Amino acid sequence: MNLDDLRELLAQYDQQHVLRHWSQLDAGQQSNLAAQLDEIDLAELASLVSGEDEATDFSALASRASSPPAVRADGGGADWSPAEARERGEEALRNGELGAVIVAGGQGTRLGFDQPKGMFPIGPVSERTLFQFFADRLLAVNEKYGCRIPLYIMTSDATDQETREYFAANENLGIPAEDLYIFKQGVMPAVDAATGKLLMQSKGSLALSPDGHGGTVSALESCGCLADAAKRGIQHLAYIQVDNPLAHLCEPELIGHHLMAASEMTTQVVQKRYPMERVGNVVLVDGKVQIIEYSDLPESAAEAVNEDGSLKLWAGNIAVHLFKLNFLQRVAGQADSLPFHRASKKVPYCDEQGQLVSPAEPNATKFERFIFDLLPIAKNAFVVESFASEAFAPVKNANDADTDTPKAAKKAIVDLHRQWLEEAGVCVDQGVQVEINPKLALTVSDLREKITTNMRIDADRYFDIPLES
Ligand code: UTP
Repeated sequence: MNLDDLRELLAQYDQQHVLRHWSQLDAGQQSNLAAQLDEIDLAELASLVSGEDEATDFSALASRASSPPAVRADGGGADWSPAEARERGEEALRNGELGAVIVAGGQGTRLGFDQPKGMFPIGPVSERTLFQFFADRLLAVNEKYGCRIPLYIMTSDATDQETREYFAANENLGIPAEDLYIFKQGVMPAVDAATGKLLMQSKGSLALSPDGHGGTVSALESCGCLADAAKRGIQHLAYIQVDNPLAHLCEPELIGHHLMAASEMTTQVVQKRYPMERVGNVVLVDGKVQIIEYSDLPESAAEAVNEDGSLKLWAGNIAVHLFKLNFLQRVAGQADSLPFHRASKKVPYCDEQGQLVSPAEPNATKFERFIFDLLPIAKNAFVVESFASEAFAPVKNANDADTDTPKAAKKAIVDLHRQWLEEAGVCVDQGVQVEINPKLALTVSDLREKITTNMRIDADRYFDIPLES
């Protein structure tokens, strides 16, 4: 688009100010800004700014919400047993029906780590990174079930280059190059909260952010990952976020429940510990499974209980999902299948004089898509409950916070692996840190097979392979 056309287009949406410093930019900066503007759908942005996408009445929604179709952690709620589900999931793995998606495009602002979150050293003894945790897990699943699961990792402008360099410098963490795809998600601009005007990060660059984990669908499609998966005969994609080292990536029982329920999208949850816990609430409203964020859930709905005193809205989202591939192919073609959510944020911006301003209060609106908004449009959407101690240890905040810190996640890993060792007949001294590589054991029964003698562990230990008695 030439400069005149660009000016005209921007004027149509009252956004001409972004060219204010154009004459001071060199040719490279000019073409960069033009390319950024080209990627933005100004008509869509105008409708978001004007609030045309109507706001949901969450109070009304919550008053009609009930428990979603789910298999509970004790196996209740389904017409099949956990053992049958496991067998079915194992068969799907052996048949090569699974692919894996890890989303790692977030900016990780709360953690305050200066590299992509996937490179955070989370191993309590090994200091393996989050990426290593998942690579080891996938390689272990491949080995156990004789399959070759392709791994699709989503990055963003904030994480792409470092992630690629990290994998390249570490032999792809053992994943065959032909089975690893790193692909980048799209961006959304931040706008001034009061005026809806695009914010500039510098004289020649818009303030852009990743478009949310809901951007996974269109990025998988536009980067050719869905087509690649189809070519390989993949039928389901297992989705996790990079910041949960206990995430059950390609876990057979979870896959089996998804298959037995003939679900297009299955989501793993944990039981909420208290009514207003800061997790998304997975609920059923008007026959559709959906998520109501904790911030949108009225206290009265959150506190409603069943006759036995248990919470009516009990299912907390942990962002582990399974998708039917042909469901993703279908929704990827429907541009507006996912709504945008708004977040009020502090975004530094370049003012009229070209000076960078760092606001003390939130000044901007950001727009993001969320992957869980696919639940209401999925056929037979289904929920699988797991215990948080086995499946959820999110790394969100720096260690000085109260919850979701690396320290808490490391403790959760040690506690789980200590429990496995003890169940397998090993005595672990108090205070000793233990960590098991999935290549040695993916489950406690794998571990039992590997341990032949009664051991006592009296010092911190990383159980890699091979294991001596
Ligand atoms: P969060 O929403 O918790 O964001 O992402 P974050 O980037 O990790 O951390 P904050 O909010 O900036 O502190 C949950 C997961 O979704 C991914 C993240 O990488 C993380 O794995 N994500 C989030 C994306 O891949 N893209 C996005 O646009 C947003």
